[in-house]
Amino acid sequence: MSFQNILEHTEKGILNLTINRPDKLNALNKLTIQELSTALDKAASDTNVKVIILTGAGEKAFVAGADISEFAHFTTDQGALLASEGQILLFNRIQNYSKPIIAAVNGFALGGGLELAMACHMRVASDTAKMGLPEVSLGVIPGYGGTQRLAQLVGKGKAFEMIMTADMITAEDAFQWGLVNYVTTAEGLLKKCVEIAEKIIKRASPSAIASAIRAVNAGFDSDKNGFDVEISEFGKCFGTDDFKEGTGAFIEKRKPIFVGK
Ligand code: COA
Repeated sequence: MSFQNILEHTEKGILNLTINRPDKLNALNKLTIQELSTALDKAASDTNVKVIILTGAGEKAFVAGADISEFAHFTTDQGALLASEGQILLFNRIQNYSKPIIAAVNGFALGGGLELAMACHMRVASDTAKMGLPEVSLGVIPGYGGTQRLAQLVGKGKAFEMIMTADMITAEDAFQWGLVNYVTTAEGLLKKCVEIAEKIIKRASPSAIASAIRAVNAGFDSDKNGFDVEISEFGKCFGTDDFKEGTGAFIEKRKPIFVGK
């Protein structure tokens, strides 16, 4: 399957998904959101894909936001639909995806772009990256989960500051505030993401990772009790082939070979 706005490349268990609209600073239009969602559907059942790295094409931007030209004339109902469809199709899907997704933030990550990075399980930024939620300067608020995920990651005070001032912050500030896991040079960005991905692929049971994602996310879901979900996911692990393999390999002093079930 070929896409118009995204590039896919899988190597050694790592799927690189690149948003490829550099002339529009990789702004998220409807087609790009649909294509990313379809690529995630495909990768979910592809056993060759263990970890996904999501980035933007070119040196300037990860994603400079939702495509403003597409929604500038929207009504109240269309605005609400834009946010709810995007959240269901892409942003919540990434957060709840059963394989790790790492955002490689290679430049501007603004509005929907920062929201996309925040939906991922981890973020690595190049020292050239600039991050912000400038929506209030357009007379709107973040609609792809930004008001929630930013406050979860950096705390309410810093989240309010970023949202109210519409300021862009540097990668170094984002690191100090806990918004990104690492800051690298622009050249070292993908290498750092691959290094994290390789550690996961080498060490971790895919079925245990999926359980961990469900348990951690449950703690941020007001309809769930994270501790209860952890107990249930912990118990489920005991019924997996990966658990038998992981514990068996430890006792037999050999490296485990996980099947992800
Ligand atoms: N939606 C649609 N198009 C966008 C976009 C967005 N969010 N961000 C950038 N673009 C387009 C620009 O319109 C321009 O297209 P054009 O060449 O056809 O005119 C192209 O990308 C390059 O952007 P430009 O503004 O010329 O680059 P710059 O270096 O002068 O400024 C930014 C870079 C990121 C500061 C600026 O593009 C910007 O402020 N973008 C919008 C950020 C935003 O508000 N995002 C939140 C949206 S909810």
